[in-house]
Amino acid sequence: MTASEGVLPGFGDLDLRTLGGRFGTPLYVVSLDRLREDAARLATALEPAGVRLLYSLKTNYLPAVVATLADEGLGVDVVSGYELRAALECGLPGERIVFNGPVKTEEELAQAVRHGVFVNVDGVEEIAVLARLAAERGDGPLPVGLRVYPPHNVYAEPGGPVGRAVPSKFGWPIADGAADEIAGKIMAEPMLRLTGVHCHLGSQIVRTGNLLAALEAVCAWAARLRTRTELTVLNVGGGFGVEGIHRLPGAVASLSEVRACRPDGAPVSRRPRFDVALFARGLAETLRRHHLDDLAVFAEPGRALVSAAAVLLTRVIGKKDLGVHRWVLLDGGLSLLPTAGVAEEHRFTPLVSEAGASRPCLVGGPLCYEGDVFGVGIDLPETLETGDYVVVQDAGAYGFSRATSFNRLRPATVTISAGVAELAWRAETYEDLMSPATPVRVARPDVRGRGAR
Ligand SMILES: Cc1ncc(COP(=O)(O)O)c(C=O)c1O
Repeated sequence: MTASEGVLPGFGDLDLRTLGGRFGTPLYVVSLDRLREDAARLATALEPAGVRLLYSLKTNYLPAVVATLADEGLGVDVVSGYELRAALECGLPGERIVFNGPVKTEEELAQAVRHGVFVNVDGVEEIAVLARLAAERGDGPLPVGLRVYPPHNVYAEPGGPVGRAVPSKFGWPIADGAADEIAGKIMAEPMLRLTGVHCHLGSQIVRTGNLLAALEAVCAWAARLRTRTELTVLNVGGGFGVEGIHRLPGAVASLSEVRACRPDGAPVSRRPRFDVALFARGLAETLRRHHLDDLAVFAEPGRALVSAAAVLLTRVIGKKDLGVHRWVLLDGGLSLLPTAGVAEEHRFTPLVSEAGASRPCLVGGPLCYEGDVFGVGIDLPETLETGDYVVVQDAGAYGFSRATSFNRLRPATVTISAGVAELAWRAETYEDLMSPATPVRVARPDVRGRGAR
């Protein structure tokens, strides 16, 4: 199988160009087969630490993705009322849903309690609301968790500063007693029972040792908390880095800094990669050392489950040869993959019959702003023509769910399962986009004045 035949490994035998012809481009293509495989692989790799998986729904809330992972036995982590509704409408029972997030409204908390969803407290305001809801429910004290964080920077480079530069807006710091104080407030509420400790420490973490060191501190704190309350749940969050995406250290996603971002000097083979097996062994050991291995241990990854299972299928809509520089413009841009760009590189696969010699290109999208640039120095075939297909790989995470309609309407999503392609989300229309608006028309179309030609 080669990309030149239009076929990508993990995406069945379908020629993606046929899908492009049928559904148009840009197009998100999700392989549900690959999704199942990746979920099963991750679950097996985490078995040594007894970890159960919750899928972080915000990473990609396409119902086909959520339902497929739920059918694989995963629960979900949601961070808003509408995500909770999306999970419930996919058929997930409340007991398989965990509600996180820095602020939760009274309405959202009521919805969660009504459906038996486990809530990890973050905002201090949530405590009184949850206690009241528990009293109204009349079913005894409500079990809840608390989100905390250790004084570690999980992105620290070897030899670099290991502490956090600024306090997080998520959770409560365990280092200065703030987490103990909030835990005390929860435990002082007769209608609440503090049974869970939760943390989520970053995204696209590639240094396994950093995450383990941070979790060591969380586990030490949880072990101390356990002397004050009956803990049953530990949730270590997500953030496991994926291979297909490379975050440039310290990079800023701005075109004027593109030059400063490239190259980062690290050959692909020497880039640090998150090692799930090492993580599972390390976590199992940490849990044992702190006598926490009897707890129900959860992780809530997003990227590690869905990133590789989807691609953004695009076509070249423009080229600009400017001597040493060559721009290739695709018909899908960063509005469809907002976390991509010069600071977070993706892989690009041209679907051309004769690839031939390649040349480093600047790859941009169609949007009318300077930052709509996927990458610099991306090798693409010399022969690449307008109309040719280019696949942006690893597009499953934070694309579909973070896409905007800036300049262009959001495209369709197609799923592939057992070799069959199906429309899973139709393309947005002008009517969809404008439907919330109260229509207003120009009152004096015949008057010519300032601004008129
Ligand atoms: C609370 C929480 N859990 C899980 C995740 C999933 O993170 P990732 O996709 O990096 O695994 C996120 C995303 O940042 C999150 O905020």
